[in-house]
Amino acid sequence: MNKPLQLIRTLPDIKKEQPALAIRKVSKIFPSDDGYLNVVDNVSFDIAAGELVCLLGPSGCGKTTLLKLIAGFIKPSAGDIQIQDRRVSRPGPDRCVVFQEDALFPWLTVSENIAFGAKGLIPKDRLAAEVDRHLEMVGLGAFRDYLPKEISGGMKQRVALARVLILKPQLLLMDEPFGALDAQTREDMQNLLLSLWEEFSHTIVFVTHDLVEAITMADRILLMGSNPGKIRSEIPVNLSRPRKKESNAFHSFFRNLRSRL
Ligand SMILES: Nc1ncnc2c1ncn2[C@@H]1O[C@H](COP(=O)(O)OP(=O)(O)OP(=O)(O)O)[C@@H](O)[C@H]1O
Ligand SMILES: [Mg+2]
Repeated sequence: MNKPLQLIRTLPDIKKEQPALAIRKVSKIFPSDDGYLNVVDNVSFDIAAGELVCLLGPSGCGKTTLLKLIAGFIKPSAGDIQIQDRRVSRPGPDRCVVFQEDALFPWLTVSENIAFGAKGLIPKDRLAAEVDRHLEMVGLGAFRDYLPKEISGGMKQRVALARVLILKPQLLLMDEPFGALDAQTREDMQNLLLSLWEEFSHTIVFVTHDLVEAITMADRILLMGSNPGKIRSEIPVNLSRPRKKESNAFHSFFRNLRSRL
């Protein structure tokens, strides 16, 4: 179902002059019982076009909040977020979010779920063909007429992925998208995402708790710390692709990363 991975890009190849995403001194303060809670504190980083960056950090450090800021679901208390040269002020079809358990419409079939958000954005005469193409892309060609309750958790995340990829977003924001899946399905989904990324060069911000997942996926890991949420360090993952979890290089990267947490 998944194509073999042939990831040959390296970070210097894909770095471009203008970042695809620029976060500049962004803070987010929420009101709380004690006055206020500084959840994201003066965070700055750039992401290059075509780069896959993992945000890694402990629970509650502000990863989802940062993703929501980039998505435009909430506004920063201070600072500025730019996608290419446009300032983010609200949600837009240039940014799509995949959550851990994506809510599909239970009364719509797999193909109708994929088509739903694309209506009005893709011309009517091309929509059915685009849905078919994306069904095949995520390996769900045979399940087009199934309802969400009739498919597995991994298949639901495939639908969630197809549903955003059909919109051709500049930026794919993923909040622990495979966190609820069993180990084997999670690995299949990582491979699927990596093969699509290799083919289509999406720019991806991928939130995870999981060190192995971050090392498997990322060009670069942004390590977050909490109270307040900050980027503690940026760690390029200079392992060749496809990454072999059983290799010595992977193990030693893992040990090094764990010692920095
Ligand atoms: N709308 C809100 N109002 C008040 N506090 C909030 C709000 N959203 C998030 N918080 C608080 O901000 C902090 C960071 O939350 P966030 O969901 O971003 O963490 P996270 O890193 O994604 O955690 P997890 O790994 O558990 O998903 C938490 O203390 C949370 O309670
Ligand atoms: Mg979260």
